[in-house]
Amino acid sequence: MKLQICLFLGVTFICVSKADFSPPVVNISLDVPADQRWAPLMKLYDINFLRKAASEVIDSTVPKWVHVAIKPVVEALEKYIPQPYAGEIRGMASFYGTDISDIVLLNFAYEVSAFCTSIVTQDTTGNIYHGRNLDYPHDVLKNLTVDVLFMKNGKVAYRGTTFAGYVGLWTGQSPNKFTVSGNERSRFIFFIFVRSSILHRFYYVFIPTDKGHWWENIISAILLKSSPVSWLVRETLEAAVDFQDAVMRLAKVPIITDVYYILGGVRAGEGVVITRDRGGSADIWPLDPLHGNWYRVETNYDHWLPAPKRDERRDVAMKALNATGQNHISMDSLYKVLSVNPVCNWITVYTTVMSAATPEKYTTAVRDMCV
Ligand SMILES: *[C@@H]1O[C@H](CO)[C@@H](O)[C@H](O)[C@H]1NC(C)=O
Ligand SMILES: *[C@@H]1O[C@H](CO)[C@@H](O)[C@H](O)[C@H]1NC(C)=O
Ligand SMILES: *[C@@H]1O[C@H](CO)[C@@H](O)[C@H](O)[C@H]1NC(C)=O
Repeated sequence: MKLQICLFLGVTFICVSKADFSPPVVNISLDVPADQRWAPLMKLYDINFLRKAASEVIDSTVPKWVHVAIKPVVEALEKYIPQPYAGEIRGMASFYGTDISDIVLLNFAYEVSAFCTSIVTQDTTGNIYHGRNLDYPHDVLKNLTVDVLFMKNGKVAYRGTTFAGYVGLWTGQSPNKFTVSGNERSRFIFFIFVRSSILHRFYYVFIPTDKGHWWENIISAILLKSSPVSWLVRETLEAAVDFQDAVMRLAKVPIITDVYYILGGVRAGEGVVITRDRGGSADIWPLDPLHGNWYRVETNYDHWLPAPKRDERRDVAMKALNATGQNHISMDSLYKVLSVNPVCNWITVYTTVMSAATPEKYTTAVRDMCV
C-alpha cells in the first residue's frame, strides 16, 4: 500500500510516495561484553546518518547552552550508570565516534518523550493480543527503528523494538511468558493544532509538561537509585519468570518518572495496565473478560479520568474495538484498530502487535502513511 502526499510549493506540486515498511531485525548477543554487543548495528546503518540523527534528536530536546554546560557533568555521572547500560553506552559512543555524554543525553532524551497508545485484548477462546503505537515527533526515528533479538546461549532470551543508539526498551516480548509496552504518563499536556490546508483536517501536536525534565531524571536515577522506565522494561524481560512476576516487578521497582506499563500474558485473563508513580503503582487495571471487559486501552491519561476532549485517541480506539468485537479480535484486526486516525497519526513512528504465546508472530511496522 502506498500513499501519495502532495505539497504545493511556490508554483509547483511536489508529490512524494509514502509506504509503511518493516524495520531491520538485528541479533544482539548478551553473551558478548556490553561494550561490544551493539556492533552488529553498524552493519545496518550509515555512521554519518546515525550521527546526524542523534544530533537532531538532542538539539531539539536539549537547549544548546544546556548541552554545552552539562557535558562535564554528564561525563562525571557516567561512572554511576549501572551495568550493562554503562558498557553498552560506552560501546555505542565508540562506534559512533562521538562523546559519551552525547549518547547518555540521547538515551535520556528519549526517556521523557514517548506518547503512545497501547491495547491489550483477549479473544473469545482466551488468546491474548497486545498492540502498541509509539508516537514521537521526530521523522528521523522512522529510519532508526529496529527490532532486536537479544540472544543468550544461541537462543532468543527476549526481543523488543527500539531506536538505534538507545539501550532501553519501550516495547518487548519474553517468549511464551509475557509482552510489555510503556506509555508516557503526563499530568498536563498542551496541544497545538495544526491545520493542513491540503488535506483539510486538523492534527494535534502535544507537548508534555512533565514534572521531571530529563536532567532531573538523570539526577534522580543516581541519587534515588531508581531505574529509567525503559531499563526496567528490559530488566523485567530478562529476569521475570512469568506474567505475574513481571507485573510485580513493573509495579514495585522505583523508577525515575511516572509511566503506564501495559502487559499481556499467555493465559486467559492475563492482561493489565499498571499506572506508575515513581515509588510504586498508583493503580492496577486488569482485563475482566467475565464482565465484558475483554480489552484495555491506555493512551497517556489515567484511565479513571476522562481524556481531554481534544485528544480522541482513547475513544476512537474503543469504538474501533467495539466494532471489531471479541469474536473477531486477532493480531490483524488489532493492527487495523491501531491504524485508525487519530490512534495512528502523523507523529506515529511504529506499530507493534504481539502475543507472548506465539512469539514468532511479533510484528513491527514503521508507519509512514498515518496522517
Ligand atoms: C538471529 O537469530 C535467529 C533466531 O535464532 C535466527 O533465526 C536468525 O537467523 C539470526 N539472524 C542473524 C542475522 O544472524
Ligand atoms: C529514511 O530513509 C529513506 C530511504 O532510505 C529516505 O528516503 C528518507 O529520506 C529517510 N528519512 C529520514 C527522515 O531520514
Ligand atoms: C464500547 O462498548 C462498551 C460495552 O458495550 C460500552 O460500555 C462503551 O461505552 C463502548 N465504547 C465506545 C467508545 O463506544
